[in-house]
Amino acid sequence: MNYKFPKNFLWGAASSGPQSEGASNKDGKGKNIWDHWYEIDPEKFFNQVGPQDTSNFYNLYKEDIQRMKEIGFNSYRTSITWSRLIPDGDGEVNEKAVDFYNNIIDELIKNGIKPIINLYHFDMPLAMQEKGGWESREVVEAYARYARKCFELFSDRVKYWTTHNEPIVPVEGGYLYQFHYPLVTDMKRAVQVAYNTMLSSAKAVAEFHKLNVEDGKIGIILNLTPSYPRDINNPEDVKAANIADLFFNRSFLDPSILGEYPEELIQIIKDNDIIPEIHENDLEVIKNNTVDYLGVNYYQPRRIKAREKSVDSSEALMPETFFDNYEWPERKMNIYRGWEIYEKAIYDIAVNIKNNYKNIPWYISENGMGVQDEDRFIDGNGMVQDDYRIEFLFEHLRWLHKGIEEGSNCFGYHMWTFVDNWSWTNAYKNRYGFYRVDLDNNFKRSVKKSGLWYKKVAENNELVD
Ligand code: BG6
Repeated sequence: MNYKFPKNFLWGAASSGPQSEGASNKDGKGKNIWDHWYEIDPEKFFNQVGPQDTSNFYNLYKEDIQRMKEIGFNSYRTSITWSRLIPDGDGEVNEKAVDFYNNIIDELIKNGIKPIINLYHFDMPLAMQEKGGWESREVVEAYARYARKCFELFSDRVKYWTTHNEPIVPVEGGYLYQFHYPLVTDMKRAVQVAYNTMLSSAKAVAEFHKLNVEDGKIGIILNLTPSYPRDINNPEDVKAANIADLFFNRSFLDPSILGEYPEELIQIIKDNDIIPEIHENDLEVIKNNTVDYLGVNYYQPRRIKAREKSVDSSEALMPETFFDNYEWPERKMNIYRGWEIYEKAIYDIAVNIKNNYKNIPWYISENGMGVQDEDRFIDGNGMVQDDYRIEFLFEHLRWLHKGIEEGSNCFGYHMWTFVDNWSWTNAYKNRYGFYRVDLDNNFKRSVKKSGLWYKKVAENNELVD
């Protein structure tokens, strides 16, 4: 069976500045929350590998872009590291960073690879965090100025921009579950952070549209985790799954595409007395500045059941006040990352966007599989034989293809990631790349079997069974 993809389909991979560049705090880069957290608590990071060097893309970008070309990429997404471009987050621009990003962009275009540039990938400049991070309106305004600066500097060549990558993750990590700095657990503050981030995105969209960039498009990247109830016939399970969907998906999906928050979400926020500070005109800014396209990161579904224990009034309010997570007995797991693998969800996402989100143009901006100790799969020729990754990609692409056939407006598929890169506190524990990175041998890259497989798919624009 052959699965042909639409003409001009984007094939490639995604990464982010902080996870791939390295050269942290060199050439004028300011510190961000990751540099700071590592400095004060290195033990939190797997094998104590911090953000200093990551995969050394800062120095190896030329060769790396050749490697992208070698495996058939026609597009690549990364992010500008805010604290590299503007070390204090606001004000002075670092000219060495401007040179670096100009070089990457030019090199990609020269090699026929369309750059998609994201503005924020979990990397709050430390100076901005000291002002309150996303809790602060000052930071929202500084981010809008940073966004405008990026567009002015690079949008003569970069036509695809995104305002944020997975904006719900810094809310979860930084303000609910403590896997990002500043390690807070407070639902009210989390709601403020989510709201301000959404507002910042709309403000960046406004700045972009003001500039009337020829052929320019601006989007947002959301990690969509479809919420499946334990029992579709049990209204309590269905209600619980709906609340999880409101919190984790629709809190950004609806305002980004439809320009407003879902009524049901507003009601929950009001009923629980966690309304964020909203300024006059904010909601109009959100309404008038929806995105041109959507990037979807898909890794895992969310399985939900109604709460088993009734809510105790002394319990601090959390998303889990409203539902319990549920382990589906038939689930297939990526045991290294602890994430369920459920390929069909990518199709469900495609149908949801088509039916409920104006069939907006969208692409898979991340999908992939992190595996620990991949060196055990190296064969006699030094190549990682990652058949598990090929199977993972194949099955997801097959379901995506079905969604496209049924009319969903998907224009590309990017894997996470191009070369193994730094996964935040997991550092280099789980490897995700089409190329292996040897940390003990000067960041040497070598293509994995999946890279060669992907090359065929990308070059033929077709998946073959
Ligand atoms: C996405 C992020 O959540 O998933 C990436 O956009 C991240 O930054 C990727 O690296 C894989 O997750 P993790 O936590 O294993 O690195």
